Amino acid sequence: MKNVVVFTGAGVSAESGVKTFRDSDGLWRNYRFEEVASPHAWNTDPELVLEFYNIRRKQLLEVGPNPAHLALVKLEEKFKVQIITQNVDDLHERAGSKNVFHLHGEIRKSRSTVDPELIYDIEGWELKLGDKCEKGSQLRPHVVWFGEQVDGFSAATEIASNADIFIVIGTSLVVYPAAGLIDFVPDLSPKYLIDPKAKTPWGIQNLTVIQEKAGKGVPELVESLLNAEK
Ligand code: APR
Repeated sequence: MKNVVVFTGAGVSAESGVKTFRDSDGLWRNYRFEEVASPHAWNTDPELVLEFYNIRRKQLLEVGPNPAHLALVKLEEKFKVQIITQNVDDLHERAGSKNVFHLHGEIRKSRSTVDPELIYDIEGWELKLGDKCEKGSQLRPHVVWFGEQVDGFSAATEIASNADIFIVIGTSLVVYPAAGLIDFVPDLSPKYLIDPKAKTPWGIQNLTVIQEKAGKGVPELVESLLNAEK
């Protein structure tokens, strides 16, 4: 079976009703990310940080996967599919995708502030000041903030370097190191970029740009890949 690696950003969840970050109605138009998604924010106003993620977690529980998430599950009929997502939502998992790697963490989990190995599922939507890990320290959202290291990047580059087909969906490709992942894909492997505002990245071999929303572009691409595969 061929390896298909799928790299997703906020755009894959947009049609589910999850806000993107940099579009005209995106999260970073209404919030300053330094004030809600950085170590500095956590140190100065943890309550505001928790509230920011609580609101998003609550909204996430009210929405579901869309046709793009579901099409990626179908791709598993004929391919070994590995999803690498920048999204902290769990819509790929809820759709049924088997292999999902979260580069920027998971909003429905919390993490100890003294021991990063201690990670817990959050029951419901709320994480509060005073919620503690088993070692007695405050729990924080299990997400990668601005200014923090992306610990999973090296593992992600390993996955990308084994891609027979690489599909990028709904990301502005401005946040590094994640945006550089495509550089690790073998030149000869076909690559697809699905995003209504996609620009053609410079110097990428074998790239097809599909300027469509994920809800249309992904099911169409999946159908044609499945048909082409015996
Ligand atoms: N289908 C596909 N793509 C879409 C759709 C849609 N329906 N709607 C919007 N998009 C595209 C936009 O055109 C844009 O290119 O999704 C992209 C969203 O870009 P960003 O808001 O920058 O989101 P993303 O690339 O995932 O951000 C990367 O930045 O703030 C951090 O940690 C956060 O993981 C996030 C990272």
